[in-house]
Amino acid sequence: MKKTNKITIYDQGKYFRLDTDRTTYLMGVADGLFLGHFYYGGKLFEEDPFQNPILTPPSSENAKERCIFMDSYPFEYPGWGAGDSREGALKVKDEEGATRTQLLYQGYEVLSEKPEIPGLPSTFANEGEEVPTLRIDLSDPDTGVEVSLYYSVFSGCDAISRSVVVKNGGKGTVQLERVLSLSLDMTGKDTQGRELELLTFQGIWAREFTRDLRPIGFGRTSVSSICGKTGNRNQSFLGLVSPGITQNSGEVYGFQFLYSGNFCSSVEKCPNGDLRVSLGIHPEEFSWTLQPGESFYSPEVVMTYSDEGLGTMSRNFHHLFHEHLIRGKYTHSKRPILINNWEATYFDFNTEKLLDIARTAKDCGIEMLVMDDGWFGKRNDDSSSLGDWVVNEEKLPGGLSYLGEELEKMGMKFGIWVEPEMVSPDSDLYRAHPDWAIAVPGREPARSRNQLVLDISRKDVRDAVFSMLEKVLLSTKISYVKWDMNRHLSDLYSAELPAGRQGEFLHRYVLGVYDLQERLLNTFPDLLLENCSSGGARFDPGMLYYSPQIWTSDDTDAFERIKIQEGAATLYPLSCLGAHVSICPNHVTGRTVPFETRGNVALMGTFGYELDITTLSDEEKAQIRLQTSRYHRYNDLVREGEYYRMASFRENGFYDCYGVVSKDRSEMLLTMIHVRNQPCNPYRTVPVFGLLPEGMYRVTDIEKEEKGEEPTVCVASGAALARAGLRLSCRYGDYQSVLLYVKRIESEK
Ligand code: GLA
Repeated sequence: MKKTNKITIYDQGKYFRLDTDRTTYLMGVADGLFLGHFYYGGKLFEEDPFQNPILTPPSSENAKERCIFMDSYPFEYPGWGAGDSREGALKVKDEEGATRTQLLYQGYEVLSEKPEIPGLPSTFANEGEEVPTLRIDLSDPDTGVEVSLYYSVFSGCDAISRSVVVKNGGKGTVQLERVLSLSLDMTGKDTQGRELELLTFQGIWAREFTRDLRPIGFGRTSVSSICGKTGNRNQSFLGLVSPGITQNSGEVYGFQFLYSGNFCSSVEKCPNGDLRVSLGIHPEEFSWTLQPGESFYSPEVVMTYSDEGLGTMSRNFHHLFHEHLIRGKYTHSKRPILINNWEATYFDFNTEKLLDIARTAKDCGIEMLVMDDGWFGKRNDDSSSLGDWVVNEEKLPGGLSYLGEELEKMGMKFGIWVEPEMVSPDSDLYRAHPDWAIAVPGREPARSRNQLVLDISRKDVRDAVFSMLEKVLLSTKISYVKWDMNRHLSDLYSAELPAGRQGEFLHRYVLGVYDLQERLLNTFPDLLLENCSSGGARFDPGMLYYSPQIWTSDDTDAFERIKIQEGAATLYPLSCLGAHVSICPNHVTGRTVPFETRGNVALMGTFGYELDITTLSDEEKAQIRLQTSRYHRYNDLVREGEYYRMASFRENGFYDCYGVVSKDRSEMLLTMIHVRNQPCNPYRTVPVFGLLPEGMYRVTDIEKEEKGEEPTVCVASGAALARAGLRLSCRYGDYQSVLLYVKRIESEK
């Protein structure tokens, strides 16, 4: 038996075992040929779990007919058309047009370092950390295609990452028609014997991250995107959960895809009740030609398991993404509080207006002005100029450099909006290079928001886009870029690709986005990048590799945000969730929510403003001063702490409560929102999770403390707060909120 810290190999490669702190993942090889999956779940403590016959690979000889074996064996990475009629992971077409793909076991290697994936985002080990990786090699002897499956073990966050490399080791050209990143065969039940349910997140513009939970029926159920980006309709996440799952109880398997293009995530319930989970690039509109010797790299999938409810799954993903995916100096540092002029002015602004906003903002504790859409070309609405990244001197005399200098004199940082992947038909760029826009030759392409998409799968187009961006960023001191992407892809065709390779276009487009953002970060390493796509239409872990924050939704109504941010925080750290205070009545919903609650909701995200601050009352400006000082006081905790959800308005219909606790559990910031008032219900009792049961804590009301009033709500142990709960008086009216600070008393000394 060969054992590294978290990877154990038995019988010279007959069995493989991966262990995180609290989970185990087992594979084995039947008859020396077929790599199978035998177990994923809570940690097994046996030294040699394969003494248990359930975990021993069945022999293919035992089956009367081989197809029964093929159609029921739990393949770790199933091929295509060789007797397994469930969803395949790899489908290879050879020069004769045959697609039968059968993957047989070849060998393995344990790597001490986690390899990068060329051109793609991937999780990483930090310096001095051990993230052991297992590579298992399979091959299809008929085509000569070689497949390497990579598994990396992130023990502390109970996560395993998986990716696949497919190499053409044969003599002929092959076409890959599907390359999924993950396939996982498992029983459809939790350890109590209850049928697992499917958890996904769906949405649309301004309603992103809506949770959807459903029983799993027989056959295939999938969520996917075919719009060229992840989109806002479905998250590239799939969860399998015990019925009645809560934050603290029930079992959960969570899978996420580190990719920003078309995806398909599905679960297939087989006749015997077993499940096959699949996740990867959507096979629709995908194919990839491999000449002999060439390789294809799949994007990465990360997975986690917990038997302690959804909260643990969220924290595992948060930990993994915050420590092993998001890069750059802002990952672990406070970001400047910004004010964005979009909802303040839309396209109607000039230097004077922006400087007015900046001056007032500075006086209220805001640190950066972000100039949104409308500063370039002749763009006064959304009908022109995308692609002409040259400042409109009529609006901004003296250009970006004058504005930048004036802001600097004021002590304000400067941020800017761009939409580099797009072109307006009414633009100098389009007039000069109509062939750079994605379109099928001879057919009129569909416009969306009056714009077309540039073919950045092409290096020449990418180079041109990059040099335009570079010029803008060198023209003055710019600290922040909001990178927008406001439509989906249609009329798929790339002039660079021959007819037989058009199926590569969408993946090449995504690789183009990654290449551009990587170049941007290499050239401007101090830049704070925020991705955006009409709000959260490209909010995925792939983009987080490039930007530590993503604009969560164009819906800035704090009431809607309660739900949107709850969904987003189930999957992503709070430090990623772009969240701003905006004006009421809200521009999307027409709803009015108290200013204080708008601040409290945005505080549990990146925090910033999106309103015309020059028109606010003195009282509102005083509130902004208070809110910005709260940001400075609590952002370290929000950014680095662990997220716990205590109550959900979505479930109870009346109130929402969530908090972040420091890693040493000495302090917590808790937000309680009485969303809807109810007569004859003067208080709500919420359990407070995440504290040390034996620790004594003082709970204080932050607003009262700021007003110089006695702030103590109670003094209680972590156990009492979790079990008896915290009783909080309701306030009069809807959308009222309270911010509480919980501090361990011993550590006050
Ligand atoms: C998108 C973004 C908004 C804003 C506009 C500008 O809709 O989500 O925040 O930047 O574009 O056109």
